[in-house]
Amino acid sequence: MEITIIGTGYVGLTTGACFAHIGHKVICVDNDERKIDLLNKGIIPIYEPKLDEIIEEAKRKNLISFTTDMAYGVKNSKVLFIAVGTPPKETGEPDLSYVENVASQIGEHMDSYRLIVEKSTVPVKTAQWIRTTIARFNKKNVDFDVAVNPEFLREGSAVDDFLNPDRIVIGVENKRAEEILLEIYKPIKAPILITDLTSAELIKHASNAFLAMKISFINAISIICEKTGADVEMVAKGVGLDKRIGPHFLKAGVGYGGFCFPKDLAAFIKIAEELGYDFRLLKEVANINEKQKEYFVKKMERVLWNLKDKIIGIWGLSFKPNTDDIRFAPALDIINLLKKEGAKIKAYDPKAMEKTKEIIKDITYCDNPYDVCKDADCVALITEWEEFANLDFEKIKSLMRQPIIFDGRNFLDKEKLINLGFHYYGIGKK
Ligand code: UDX
Repeated sequence: MEITIIGTGYVGLTTGACFAHIGHKVICVDNDERKIDLLNKGIIPIYEPKLDEIIEEAKRKNLISFTTDMAYGVKNSKVLFIAVGTPPKETGEPDLSYVENVASQIGEHMDSYRLIVEKSTVPVKTAQWIRTTIARFNKKNVDFDVAVNPEFLREGSAVDDFLNPDRIVIGVENKRAEEILLEIYKPIKAPILITDLTSAELIKHASNAFLAMKISFINAISIICEKTGADVEMVAKGVGLDKRIGPHFLKAGVGYGGFCFPKDLAAFIKIAEELGYDFRLLKEVANINEKQKEYFVKKMERVLWNLKDKIIGIWGLSFKPNTDDIRFAPALDIINLLKKEGAKIKAYDPKAMEKTKEIIKDITYCDNPYDVCKDADCVALITEWEEFANLDFEKIKSLMRQPIIFDGRNFLDKEKLINLGFHYYGIGKK
């Protein structure tokens, strides 16, 4: 199948690369010339495991190409996926002007039947707007269908998630569009759910909201655990063994981040409001998430007494491991809260330092996790990169001014650290 993907961000690029990997011929279009230049030179502008390998392989097989030419992309594929960004506005609503712009260009350039698939996460009913916009610009009166095919990719494992998904959701209005999408996904073994356009859009909203709710729920429980002497990991295990609840997304920590949960939740709350429903449950989910970072800093303050002029080491800046993405990363908020108290920050991350340097200038960036510890009054682990599990903690203890560790992800070996003489503070435990 010939497929054009419009937008080469995390979602678009992964989708394009994976479609090429399963044998389709893919054109990736983006209006960012710098990005397309890099991609043509074989440089992948984001860090995502396996993505570079499959793009290289697809290039060798001549199954993927990159261009800024929208007309070329529209004219040369029957199926067009819209995967452009929908950044949040001040109000929490997503900015849909990129989606509109792409839809109008598709309408202008298409000259025979096209299936246009909404892939970006957008408010429910956007597919209808895409259809209306394409129709308005479709002066040649070309036949077309609109479909919705939400993505459920996690950064850091996006390629694996794409190739081995829990489910594929396809929202269509007729058999013709359904058959094309079934053909495209044929090589992937997964349950396929066919729905109408609006239900498919709502599945995406509801899934992300539910996952964020699970995280905020366990984070709220972690506070009760700290106050009662229970252990949140034990509690999560006991709760998660119930098949109706399940063990996933019950890891307490410093809160969720990334470009999906915070943004999608804000958008869903806003959409509900516009529909006349005050989704207070989700407002509280977001509120608990904000408070979790403040609570973490307060805990540091309780242990260290005054934060002013304390040297605080930060391990991990990305919003989760295996990505260089720092959008809405808890580490950024925590660093800002600590700076406000007058603390001096030293930070290290295996992949996300370049991006963080662009927005936080007045902290010390270290070349490795050990330099972070030199003369530090404490170290706080914010992102659970595998690298941090196997450090030489005896060496770390000798480097630090005070052997205090705050483990924001319950990731380190607490017993081992205590035996080595560290003061260890996890989340939701004594
Ligand atoms: C998420 C959804 O999982 C994915 O289906 C959707 O398409 C996009 O949004 P992503 O943001 O890449 O994916 O990462 P995810 O692995 O879901 O983690 C999001 C955040 O939640 C991270 O900051 C992570 O640290 C945090 N998290 C996750 C927890 O704090 N506890 C958990 O148990 C799980």
